Amino acid sequence: MLELELESEADTLALARSLGAVLKGGDVIGLEGGLGAGKTTFARGAVHGLGVSEETAVTSPTFALLHQYQGRLPIVHADFYRLTDEVELAELGVDELLDEGCVLVVEWGRKLPTMADRTVLWVELEIVSDNVRRVRLRPQGARGEAIIGALVKRLPR
Ligand SMILES: Nc1ncnc2c1ncn2[C@@H]1O[C@H](COP(=O)(O)OP(=O)(O)O)[C@@H](O)[C@H]1O
Ligand SMILES: [Mg+2]
Repeated sequence: MLELELESEADTLALARSLGAVLKGGDVIGLEGGLGAGKTTFARGAVHGLGVSEETAVTSPTFALLHQYQGRLPIVHADFYRLTDEVELAELGVDELLDEGCVLVVEWGRKLPTMADRTVLWVELEIVSDNVRRVRLRPQGARGEAIIGALVKRLPR
């Protein structure tokens, strides 16, 4: 587990960007935390870190459920806040996306057991104050550990 304090939105974006740079196709990143904790902000950094142009806006997929981008890998940003059951998950074609080598960055993935099973790294965001967030990066399995290992090497000292 890696715990960090993010003193500003820019810190969150920078961490997420570094994470994006070390991801591989098939990785599922689970973003957790209450409303306004910074999940969508983190996803934005990760998408840009995966090589999607800064000019491309990364907004909340609350209503569309999935937004897809193409960087050095295909990336899907999902928000399952409104999702209710596993049938819908199957309908979204999540397994097919992973088989195709997409990276999946998911808000509220813990709600769905099959999504949670596929998650290799949990990013848990917590509000400390207006501009400060605490983040816990919790690996799930060997791939999650490897991601944290690669990420730590990229963190500013
Ligand atoms: N350190 C920080 N990290 C992330 N967001 C921050 C931070 N400080 C302030 N914010 C603000 O908090 C809000 C987070 O919103 P958002 O990323 O949509 O959260 P969520 O998707 O978890 O609901 C944004 O308005 C962002 O500017
Ligand atoms: Mg959000």
